[in-house]
Amino acid sequence: MKKITIAIDGFSSCGKSTMAKALAKEIGYIYIDSGAMYRAVTLYAIQHRLFDDAGEADIASLQEHINQIHIEFRLDPCTQQPQTYLNGTNVEQDIRTMDVSRKVSNIAAIGFVREALVRQQQEMGKKKSIVMDGRDIGTAVFPDAEMKVFVTASPEVRAQRRYDELTAKGDTCDYQDIYNNVVTRDRIDMTRDISPLRKAEDALELDNSHLTPEEQTAWLLEQFHRIAAE
Ligand code: CDP
Repeated sequence: MKKITIAIDGFSSCGKSTMAKALAKEIGYIYIDSGAMYRAVTLYAIQHRLFDDAGEADIASLQEHINQIHIEFRLDPCTQQPQTYLNGTNVEQDIRTMDVSRKVSNIAAIGFVREALVRQQQEMGKKKSIVMDGRDIGTAVFPDAEMKVFVTASPEVRAQRRYDELTAKGDTCDYQDIYNNVVTRDRIDMTRDISPLRKAEDALELDNSHLTPEEQTAWLLEQFHRIAAE
């Protein structure tokens, strides 16, 4: 069976990372959460006070800092789950807050941020055997990926999933707030000038609104075995 590159793109909170992680584990591939990288840059900007009170980023200062932002993934030795590190510190929890979610899509629309991260993502995928999820993986990062999946689900289902995920972690959150965030990020992601979120022409489409995680993984494995055997 040949080694391939798997690109999973789609709207915010539609379970891409759950499905990408499960698939990578089953087939022994590396999993990379590209969204975590945009979140880590956003967290860096928050920590360095690069946002004003209205939430606008100081883009010129961020550009001066961009080469000092080092992001890597390390496996947690107990859970074997990838953890996001920003300049040597584990930020896996800190990048998932609503504050970061509110600011990340504007940061992800900046050209020099995308250039820096896409370069790193392409480097990570050089040896294939990788599953990467995001918004532009099948269109801009790995346009030649052998397997591309574009995931959709209704905004209500996606907001409920994110609400359940955050409350399970003990966070207090408001469903309407999350719903608004999901819809706003989709709009920014789809309308930005550089690599907007869209389905690659050769991507398989998966609406997972009514699928369990197990059904989703079974579908992905079926596609993987078909494509890798070709
Ligand atoms: O948490 P959720 O699945 O909704 O999003 P994420 O995958 O953590 O990505 C956070 C944000 O980063 C997205 O809303 C996009 O604005 C941006 N992003 C991007 O522009 N390109 C990617 N390849 C991945 C994420």
